This record gives sequence, structure tokens and C-alpha cells, in this order.
Amino acid sequence: MRNRVLFVCCLAMIVLLAGTLVAQEDRFLIQSKAFEPRQRPGVEFNHLLHYEFLECTDCHHDYVDGENVWDMYSGKNYCSDCHTVNGDEHAMGLMDAFHEQCIGCHQEYQRRGLSTGYIMCGECHARR
Ligand code: HEC
Ligand code: HEC
Ligand code: HEC
Ligand code: HEC
Repeated sequence: MRNRVLFVCCLAMIVLLAGTLVAQEDRFLIQSKAFEPRQRPGVEFNHLLHYEFLECTDCHHDYVDGENVWDMYSGKNYCSDCHTVNGDEHAMGLMDAFHEQCIGCHQEYQRRGLSTGYIMCGECHARR
């Protein structure tokens, strides 16, 4: 009986650990092909850190009749799926889309005196 409890506990721990290890992997470099030849290095982005306190749809969207119907299986997970480099009549240009969303929110948190993310060019576009 004791061994059985121990075994179940160990198993639970392994599952938990594996879960966090996988989750911690959710950070990547944002480096859209559309920008080639690029002026600045790509941007290190900790996806997980952000969705721990935000809704997916705070950042991802797919507007139909003014309503955000995005879901992660719609195949529209990259900003460049809709925002072209120069922008068009539907959506603003790709660089402005990133900057308005990332910097806009970081500034909003800064204004509210909360812990926030980068605001200066070289903090996000850092050579690593
Ligand atoms: C909060 C992070 C952040 C800050 C601060 C920021 N950027 Fe960006 N920027 C991004 C992201 C994300 C992209 C999209 C990168 C990609 O897909 O390659 C981007 C794209 C760009 C691009 C187009 C890609 C290229 O290199 O040609 C340029 C140019 C650029 N930023 C310049 C700037 C400048 C200049 C500043 C300061 C005024 C700045 N950025 C501040 C996050 C940031
Ligand atoms: C703070 C903004 C933000 C939040 C919140 C966010 N994402 Fe993302 N997500 C991004 C950005 C930026 C990219 C990269 C876009 C690009 O390169 O064009 C991305 C990429 C993705 C991708 C494609 C890359 C990959 O990892 O396969 C998926 C899928 C995705 N997000 C799903 C989600 C889901 C599900 C949630 C909620 C649990 C979520 N995102 C929350 C900003 C966000
Ligand atoms: C399915 C297409 C699509 C995808 C994918 C998409 N956008 Fe958009 N985005 C739009 C359209 C269309 C608008 C204009 C909406 C309007 O004017 O009502 C827009 C508007 C915006 C705006 C203005 C504020 C707002 O939310 O309306 C920002 C900022 C923005 N997008 C950034 C991004 C970023 C960053 C990504 C990637 C994480 C992204 N978009 C992915 C289509 C898309
Ligand atoms: C809706 C709000 C919001 C959006 C959108 C957002 N951020 Fe953040 N970001 C934050 C906040 C808040 C923090 C500080 C979190 C903390 O300190 O706990 C942060 C922290 C960061 C950090 C520092 C922490 C780290 O990862 O090492 C980076 C870098 C960052 N964000 C990059 C980005 C980029 C790039 C984008 C756009 C693709 C983005 N953020 C979009 C709110 C946002």
C-alpha cells in the first residue's frame, strides 16, 4: 500500500514536471519573413509569460462583422497572415501592428505604475 501511494505520487510529480517543462518552452523569436531584408534583429518573446495574465484574444484576432472570432485552429496565428508590410485597406502595416500592440500595452502598464515590458527600441531588438 505504502509503495503504491509512493508510486502514484511519483507519477503525479513527473507529469507535473513534464507539463511545466513543456510550457516553459513557449518562448520564441519573432522574426517575420515578410521583413527581409530586415533592418533590426528579431525580438525575443516569452509567449507563456504573457498568456499567464492575458486572454489569447487580447492579442490574437480575426474580425468578422466587427467581432473577434479568432481561435488557434483557424490558421491565422501569425500577424503577417493579414497585416502586409505596407498595409492595405483592411489592416495597418505589419510593423505598426506589432508596435501598436506590444509597445502600446507596455506603455499602458507603465502609465498605471505597474510592472511592464520593454519600451525602447534596443531592448526588444537586441543582438543576442
Ligand atoms: C516591445 C518591443 C518592441 C519595441 C520597444 C520596438 N519594437 Fe520594433 N518590432 C517589434 C516586433 C515584435 C517586430 C516584428 C519583428 C519581426 O517580425 O521580425 C518589430 C519590427 C520592427 C521593424 C521591421 C523589421 C525590420 O527589422 O526591418 C523595424 C524597422 C522596427 N521594429 C524598428 C523599431 C524601432 C526604430 C523602435 C524604437 C523606436 C522599435 N522597433 C521598438 C517589437 C518592438
Ligand atoms: C501578448 C500577446 C499574445 C497573447 C496573450 C497570446 N499570443 Fe499567441 N502569439 C503572439 C504573437 C506576437 C505570436 C507570433 C506572431 C508572429 O510571429 O506573427 C503568437 C503566436 C502564436 C501561435 C503560433 C506560434 C506557435 O507557437 O505555434 C499560436 C498557435 C498562438 N500564438 C496561440 C496562442 C494562444 C492559444 C494563446 C492564449 C492561451 C495566445 N496565443 C496568447 C501573441 C500573443
Ligand atoms: C485574420 C487577420 C488578422 C490577423 C491574423 C491579425 N490581424 Fe491585426 N487586424 C486585422 C484587421 C482586419 C484589423 C482592423 C480592424 C478594424 O479596423 O476594425 C486589425 C487591427 C489591428 C490593430 C489595431 C487595434 C485593433 O485590435 O483593432 C493592431 C494593433 C493589430 N491588428 C495588431 C496585430 C498583431 C500584433 C497581430 C499578430 C499577433 C495581428 N494583428 C493579427 C487583421 C488581422
Ligand atoms: C496587453 C499587454 C501586453 C502586450 C500586448 C504585450 N506585452 Fe509584453 N509585457 C506586458 C507586461 C505587463 C509585462 C511585464 C510582466 C511582468 O513583469 O510580470 C511584459 C513583459 C515583456 C517583456 C519582458 C519580460 C521577458 O519576456 O523577459 C518582453 C521582452 C515583452 N513583454 C515583449 C513583448 C512583445 C515583443 C510583445 C508584442 C509581440 C508584447 N510584449 C506584447 C504586457 C504586454
